Amino acid sequence: MDTRPIGVFDSGMGGLTCVRQMIRLLPGEDIVYFGDTGRVPYGGRSVETIVRYARQDVSFLRSFDLKAIVIACGTVSTTALDVLKGENDLPILGVVQPAAKAAVKASKSGNIGVIGTKATIRSGAYEAAIRALLPEATLTAKACPLLVPLVEDGRVHRSDLVTERVVEEYLAPVKAAGVDTLVLGCTHYPLLMDVISDYMGAGVTLIDTGEEAARAAAALLTNEDQLNDPARNGLRRYYASDSAEDFAATAKLFLGKDISDRVERVAIENY
Ligand code: DGL
Repeated sequence: MDTRPIGVFDSGMGGLTCVRQMIRLLPGEDIVYFGDTGRVPYGGRSVETIVRYARQDVSFLRSFDLKAIVIACGTVSTTALDVLKGENDLPILGVVQPAAKAAVKASKSGNIGVIGTKATIRSGAYEAAIRALLPEATLTAKACPLLVPLVEDGRVHRSDLVTERVVEEYLAPVKAAGVDTLVLGCTHYPLLMDVISDYMGAGVTLIDTGEEAARAAAALLTNEDQLNDPARNGLRRYYASDSAEDFAATAKLFLGKDISDRVERVAIENY
């Protein structure tokens, strides 16, 4: 048994979709979450900036004695995972490998779509991870930069005409390619599951990368005998680089509960 907390970080609020799954799968674990709300979004930035920000995020999290770090952010996982792993002596999990594995398992035809931020699609990381498992895979990748602001504005519901129109425009080539599995390669997209599923059709399996990362974290801790007591109720602390009040207000959308007494602000530029 290992009672140390797990660190989780993201460019902002979106990583809470992963935390929600971690709370479900690993109820006894303490979690320290950092959301870089003062510098979000990362998805349209250069590799150099994403790596610099990610190093500071990890440096802040490492001010706690952690047993592992989960990078909930698609952009950081696809762009900076290897750098961060090379510089840190604790297990660091990204979302790419677990999601690629799940996509290959789910796909019958090997025709798989990937959507994410510009940086995620530019990296080609999902395609490489899927091809490593299934060399004959047919892949269609598409950057969907407008989906993050729509989600952050709460426009996630069926019959929101703007969201439906944007989803349709981005996903038209992915649908036309005939994929049977679609990797939702960004923290925010699970909140658009209904709208995306309506457009793609019931025959297309959607892969929630946050959920797959949470499963991978559970498997890692189980294999290494590092789980905390699953009967306890884990303690979760949240840190943000912008207003704690704003973080708590938006967190409700992602976590479905009030966490206002557990959020603190961090000066991330000091790390
Ligand atoms: N968290 C980012 C991701 O999963 C989305 C928001 C951003 O662009 O920073 O790629």
